Amino acid sequence: MTNLSLIHDSLTDGRYGKMGGQVPTHIAIVMDGNGRWATQRGMPRIMGHQKGVDAVRRTVEACIDLGIRYLTLYAFSTENWRRPLEEVNGLMFLLKRTLKTELKTFEENNVCLKVIGRRDRLAPDVVASIEQVEHQTASNTALTLQIAFDYGGRDEIVRAVRQIASRVKSGDLAIDEIDETLFAQCLDTAGVPDPELFIRVSSVLRISNFLTWQTTYSELVFPETYWPDFTKDDLLSAIHHFQKCERRFGRAAS
Ligand code: IPE
Ligand code: IPE
Ligand code: MG
Repeated sequence: MTNLSLIHDSLTDGRYGKMGGQVPTHIAIVMDGNGRWATQRGMPRIMGHQKGVDAVRRTVEACIDLGIRYLTLYAFSTENWRRPLEEVNGLMFLLKRTLKTELKTFEENNVCLKVIGRRDRLAPDVVASIEQVEHQTASNTALTLQIAFDYGGRDEIVRAVRQIASRVKSGDLAIDEIDETLFAQCLDTAGVPDPELFIRVSSVLRISNFLTWQTTYSELVFPETYWPDFTKDDLLSAIHHFQKCERRFGRAAS
C-alpha cells in the first residue's frame, strides 16, 4: 500500500487533498460502455473503442501519479469472439496499434507491460507485437500494466488445473503440495497481488469472467461513466470509496 499523503500534489481538486489513507496496490478495471458511447453519438462502435484508448492513456498516467503499482485492464474477453468479425478485427488492430504507439511512453514512465489471457487464438502479428512490448518493458518497475486480452477467469483456472495435473502425472508434484499459494502461482497473474479495488464502468453490475480467482476479496465499485469518458476524477472517486471500506476478510466487524 502506498501512502496517499505522498501524492496530495497530484490530486486535481481539494476533495481528497486533506484526506490521509492508502491507495490500493492493485486496481482492476472492466473497460465497458465503448459501444453505447458511440451509438449514442450515431457513430460506429469501433469509434467508441478508439476513444477508449484515450481513457486508457489517462488512467495509466493517473495511476503513475498516484503511485499505484499494478493496473489490470480488461480489453477482450474469451467471450468477445462472439461479436461481429468487423468489431473483433477492429479490436485486434487497436491492440496492435496501441502497443506500437505507447511503447515510448511506457519506456519513459518506467511501465512494465504484460498481456494476460490466451495467445493460441491470436494472429501471429498480434502475438509478435505483444511479445515485443513485453520484452522491451520487462525490467520497468514503476507500474505493472496488465492488459487482459482473450482473457477469461474460468479459462485461466482451467489452464492452471491442466498445468498442475500434468506436473502431478509426471511425478514432479505431490497432490498434498497443491494449495492456494501454488494454485495462484499457476495463474497468468503469478507474482501479482490480488486487486484490492475492482471497477466496472457503465452501470453494468457483473463481473463477466474477469479475474475470477483474484477478486475474491476485492472492493467492487460500479461508476455510471462510459469508459471513453472515464477521467482521473472518476478514478479518485473509486479510490475514495475504497478508503471508506472496512476490509474484514471474514473477521467480525469492528
Ligand atoms: C467494452 O465496451 C470493450 C470491449 C468489450 C471490447 P463494449 O464494446 O462492451 O461496450 P458496450 O457494453 O457494448 O456499450
Ligand atoms: C466485458 O465486457 C469484457 C470487456 C470489457 C473486455 P462485455 O461488454 O463483453 O460484457 P457483457 O457481455 O456485457 O457481460
Ligand atoms: Mg459491454
